[in-house]
Amino acid sequence: MTGRVRELIERLSAEHRLAEAEYAELIEGRTDEAAALLAEKAVAVRKAIYGNAVFTRGLFEISNICKNDCLYCGIRRSNAAVARYRLSEADILACADEGYGLGFRTFVLQGGEDGFFTDAVLGGIVSALKRRHPDCAVTLSMGERSRESYQRLFDAGADRYLLRHETADAAHYARLHPPGMDWENRMRCLRDLKAIGYQVGCGFMVGSPFQTARHLAKDLKFIEAFQPDMCGIGPFIPHHETPFRDRPAGTLELTLYLLSILRLIHPPVLLPATTALGTIHPEGREKGILAGANVVMPNLSPVGVRKQYELYDNKICTGDESAQCRHCLEARMERIGYRLVVDRGDIAES
Ligand code: 5AD
Ligand code: FES
Repeated sequence: MTGRVRELIERLSAEHRLAEAEYAELIEGRTDEAAALLAEKAVAVRKAIYGNAVFTRGLFEISNICKNDCLYCGIRRSNAAVARYRLSEADILACADEGYGLGFRTFVLQGGEDGFFTDAVLGGIVSALKRRHPDCAVTLSMGERSRESYQRLFDAGADRYLLRHETADAAHYARLHPPGMDWENRMRCLRDLKAIGYQVGCGFMVGSPFQTARHLAKDLKFIEAFQPDMCGIGPFIPHHETPFRDRPAGTLELTLYLLSILRLIHPPVLLPATTALGTIHPEGREKGILAGANVVMPNLSPVGVRKQYELYDNKICTGDESAQCRHCLEARMERIGYRLVVDRGDIAES
């Protein structure tokens, strides 16, 4: 590692910020030695805040119907090869009951931008979930909506909202999405969610097509300013029915490096070791925790629909029961010296 990279790492961990060009330098200067130093510092700050706790959230993939056509995504509208499904309110409540029995106290409802889920329908599901399990946090990850809609869902009881910004560079965004999907609107959504009072998660893919160190530096600068409660990052993985089918996947090494950097930028951030990370490497999620992540989100969707929520090829856990995923993750965390905690897992005061 060069003296310059070492200096950047020391300054980042002391001040939690760098200039945009310095983030790019740090990314371009990645070596295994630099990655090890960053991970050591990231794990130390995370341990100071959260000890050896890893938070867990139960993920329900409630619909793979989507009006959008994101070029990277396996459930994009133009993919005619995927069988579409939508869970009913009764299905979702049954999943939540099962999850509750397994100890989960946070549920994430994720889905495509499916017009069926109007504010009345989705709000009804959220309030039914909160009535049944008042001690649980409900997180939504249902894409772009109007400010009024986000407000209604918040009023119905939703606590958190995940909406990855995908890239902080408008021109890069335009290369990953069809005309008509607009980066400005994405940013508007994130601002509205925060203003309403949600705990908000943003995030991006690592190694998405056309992405450079300069783009990633912008992502980091954006996150430094936005101070999200959560940040979801994982490697881009090609899906065979999309225009990006022949693009290379993002790497494990760069994803881990960025997880460490994010931990140092915003020490209390809730940072998942994602399913995509577990897909590109059999111990990807463990490595993510050891690089500074502190959340895992096992899939609690009904086994019958899991294969249909294939955002990318070879996604893991599509054949496993919820209880299996929960126990599998618990064992994986214990093997590396961590403890899976099942409470709401709110962000620590910074
Ligand atoms: N590879 C990795 N992540 C993907 N996502 C969508 N498609 C892919 C892919 N091919 C991510 C996006 C989206 C989240 C739900 O999943 O970042 O916001
Ligand atoms: Fe699903 Fe391991 S987390 S099988």
